[in-house]
Amino acid sequence: NTVTVLAPATVANVVCGFDVLGFALAEPHDEMHLRLTDEPGVHILNDDDFGLPTVPARNVAGAALLAMLRAAPEVTGVEVRIRKHIRPGSGIGSSAASAAGAVVGLNALLGGRFSRPELVEFAMYGEEVASGVRHADNIAPAIYGGVTLIRATTPTPDIVPLDAPPLFVTVVHPQIEVKTSDARRILKQQVPLQDAIRQWGNVGALVAGLLQHDYALIGRALEDVIIEPVRSILIPGFQQVKDGSHAAGALGGGISGSGPSLFMLSQHEATAQAVADVMRDTYDRLGLAYYVYQTTIN
Ligand code: HSE
Repeated sequence: NTVTVLAPATVANVVCGFDVLGFALAEPHDEMHLRLTDEPGVHILNDDDFGLPTVPARNVAGAALLAMLRAAPEVTGVEVRIRKHIRPGSGIGSSAASAAGAVVGLNALLGGRFSRPELVEFAMYGEEVASGVRHADNIAPAIYGGVTLIRATTPTPDIVPLDAPPLFVTVVHPQIEVKTSDARRILKQQVPLQDAIRQWGNVGALVAGLLQHDYALIGRALEDVIIEPVRSILIPGFQQVKDGSHAAGALGGGISGSGPSLFMLSQHEATAQAVADVMRDTYDRLGLAYYVYQTTIN
């Protein structure tokens, strides 16, 4: 008895919602196959050549499954075969997809006995292996789909799924390396009150804009005065992509998670295509290799 899981890429932060907002993408996604085994423990089979670890405690899917097995001691073992289509280190939730897909798959094999907040909790152990931090803003949308707000992760995950209007998402992944752990280390630990006020005004407005299907409000709320000014210096082409996309009619966007990918939201597909051209043009000029994804929130 094998289950197959398609685990989606996700965009964390959504500009103003550092660690508290995220959404799932229709494409790309990882493909995972899981089955229960008589052999004890977790067994990882990587069906690709990204060179990811297979030792369960050092693999994001493995660490998430180990956490889940601790809560289901009657289960002997589980095997997971992973074919990754989401490039590790891209900033669109590659590690979260593996961790979330693994726990969703094992839960299906166990008859769905764990709740979605419990699955988020298990999968966060995988994120900890990947970046040293148990953030849920990629995990939650990967498990719930759509747009999610993470009100809190402790004492247990408090996840709020948000309705949203149709949105086109254009993502560019420039071929540079930005480690989440580094991108977090450079952040300032103190936020001036004026910046905090501006930021929570934007987060509230973004949530309202999504719920009310108010595209103009969504566009105004896609502003980050705390994280982006620090992190954008790590990403060549950031300002060109942002300015060019605005000129092309995008609602707004910024760094996807901790980068290096950048994402832009558009109300219309033709705008999203023009944004993709801006992205290609920017990185062609800079002489940097890149991937562009044109997709939607899913
Ligand atoms: N919220 C996290 C961060 C997402 O920005 O560090 C990492 O993918």
